[in-house]
Amino acid sequence: MLKITVPASSANLGAGFDALGLALTLYNRVWMEEADGCHIAATDGAAIPTDETNMIYATARRLYERCGHPFRGLRILQESNIPMTRGLGSSSACLVAGLLGANTLMGSPVSPADLCDLAAELEGHPDNIAPAMLGGFVTSVYDEGQVYSVKKNIDEQLAFAAFVPDFRLLTSKARAALPDMVSHKDAVYNLSRAALATAAFCDGDYSLLGVATKDSLHQKYRLPLIDGGDEMFELAQDLGALAVYISGAGPTIMAVVPRDDQEFFARAQEALPQSEKLKHFTVYRLLPDNTGATVE
Ligand code: HSE
Repeated sequence: MLKITVPASSANLGAGFDALGLALTLYNRVWMEEADGCHIAATDGAAIPTDETNMIYATARRLYERCGHPFRGLRILQESNIPMTRGLGSSSACLVAGLLGANTLMGSPVSPADLCDLAAELEGHPDNIAPAMLGGFVTSVYDEGQVYSVKKNIDEQLAFAAFVPDFRLLTSKARAALPDMVSHKDAVYNLSRAALATAAFCDGDYSLLGVATKDSLHQKYRLPLIDGGDEMFELAQDLGALAVYISGAGPTIMAVVPRDDQEFFARAQEALPQSEKLKHFTVYRLLPDNTGATVE
């Protein structure tokens, strides 16, 4: 069976709404082979759809059909370590796994760039898809059906504290909370910071991330949907994070931390259960993944 490994991803980085994302060392693994009919199981007991509505299966089938390749069915085994519907790219990971698996089983008729375009079309935006496929820190634009992206490896200096709450937030709900129109001032606020965040990653100047990840386009509308979100921002800032932002559409709150700051995680783990407002959050210590999705 093929083994496909896809990293978690954290999109937006505050100001870079639908444009910036990075890959993290938390992985979904999928084993896939051609079979007669639909055979899907979880290796870890996770509650996943085991019929043809399964996102990996449906995405793989779609690629077979798009390529005009006969489709008999698939046997799929899924190990889901990326928390679902939490803003850590679990749906992108499923789309990427389905496309990479199907493409490899068909003898790789589709180029990696075209797979990325298709994945972004299915997801609606490229900011999780591109880092899930490529790894690292990725700046992307989705223009007329094509993803234009630049990937930069993230160096050894950074760690990421993902504060994951025990409830889900659908991306569709978090997008519906956003206004249709924004002011010129708010647009300038974000585009200047998204540009600065990109330059900061390219230059390795992480002292800029505090100001570069501030946002005026989405976080203030989404925080009311995240129980304890304001308090989580405050705690992470008080503990000395370089930057704090809502990961993707939320509800995970992400703190960027110097990698040698073990104290940050120890103090966060101690503080969460002691706070009524924050005890439903769990902190994951993650590192950057610079490899992206792989197929073996
Ligand atoms: N950029 C997207 C959003 C990421 O913020 O809605 C969620 O998948």
